[in-house]
Amino acid sequence: MKLLVTGGAGFIGTNFIRHIRQEHPDWQMTNLDKLTYAGNLENLKEIQDQPGYRFVKGDIADRKIVDALLSGEYFAANSLRPNTRDLRPSIVVNFAAESHVDRSILDASPFIETNVKGTQVLLEGAKKHGVQRFIQVSTDEVYGSIDRGRFTEESTLSPSSPYSASKAAADLLCLAYFKTHHLPVVITRCTNNLGPYQFPEKLIPLAITNALEDKPIPIYGDGLNVRDWIFVDDHCKALDVVIQKGKPGEVYNVGGGNEKTNLDIIRKLLELLNKPQSLMQFVTDRPAHDRRYALDCARISTELGWKPAYSFEKALSATVDWYLKNEPWWRSIKSGEYARYYEEMYLKR
Ligand code: NAD
Ligand code: TYD
Repeated sequence: MKLLVTGGAGFIGTNFIRHIRQEHPDWQMTNLDKLTYAGNLENLKEIQDQPGYRFVKGDIADRKIVDALLSGEYFAANSLRPNTRDLRPSIVVNFAAESHVDRSILDASPFIETNVKGTQVLLEGAKKHGVQRFIQVSTDEVYGSIDRGRFTEESTLSPSSPYSASKAAADLLCLAYFKTHHLPVVITRCTNNLGPYQFPEKLIPLAITNALEDKPIPIYGDGLNVRDWIFVDDHCKALDVVIQKGKPGEVYNVGGGNEKTNLDIIRKLLELLNKPQSLMQFVTDRPAHDRRYALDCARISTELGWKPAYSFEKALSATVDWYLKNEPWWRSIKSGEYARYYEEMYLKR
């Protein structure tokens, strides 16, 4: 297998690359990442010099680099290997995205550029160079909010935020390339992930690191919004199965089966960290804040035999342990540019 992994220096991409190195050491991987604020090469430092893995800094919306990578010419030009065809990727796994709802509310432009245009550039390159499988890593947020019941893969897309609208647009482009050009695209729509290397702008790492710094934890609205949480390793295993057994043109919902309110999570985290519940601070709600996400994941479990292995409790304690042991990682992120973001996002709220 020869994979082009995009966005591999972000949260899920990092965990995925580590998973593949572990489970399939013979698979070739090229990681194309623009290294936005969310990309961090520190995450992959033990892997960076290993044979069979290489990093390329670049933008998925840049046709030239995508074309050079998918044709194999990039490797020849950079004399990474004498035989260029050798490294031509047969599989694309597209993680690269702007991924944070709150940032998409502040400025939607980069979301359209990367999530929509970038996906189209990758699809076009994959079509041109005969990629055998294109995995689009999507999200449950494309369905919008659901009060009761669960979304199936056939449910209507009804995104609420510029982020989820841009991901829905990308999903539709993927399906159009399957129908029009028979490009073997497979889409996964996963619920909220937790685990190591998540950027501390998302609820769980923000709450853990703020609590460790004795800073308030912002709770949007009444804190009763529900998300279905999945440990990132389980998501990586689902992607591994989809690469090997997913049906072209198909969509697979991927969920952890752990519905929790934000308040449940923060209470539990504060308990685990031995910090006072008074650190919770209710703040103005996010506009168009989806109340509940929930997925029916029967298709991936019955057709591909995948099921999550982690309970929420196990996932949360593994995540807390990782942040406790990797303080320099998150402290270095929380200085500099992050401090300006935090001020705009929370201190002016
Ligand atoms: P992340 O924000 O942590 O990482 C995104 C990565 O993409 C970063 O390394 C960034 O540098 C890179 N990137 C951004 N723009 C790029 C571009 N134009 N070209 C190349 N690289 C670029 O995101 P994440 O949480 O790891 O999410 C990965 C994917 O999974 C996204 O597509 C997201 O929509 C999807 N997803 C995330 C979750 C979740 O809970 N985090 C759940 C379901 C689906
Ligand atoms: P987030 O981690 O941003 O993921 P998403 O919005 O993509 O589901 O947020 C998870 C939930 O936590 C969501 O209901 C918004 C809420 N939230 C807070 O209450 N406070 C925060 O500081 C953040 C970042 C999120």
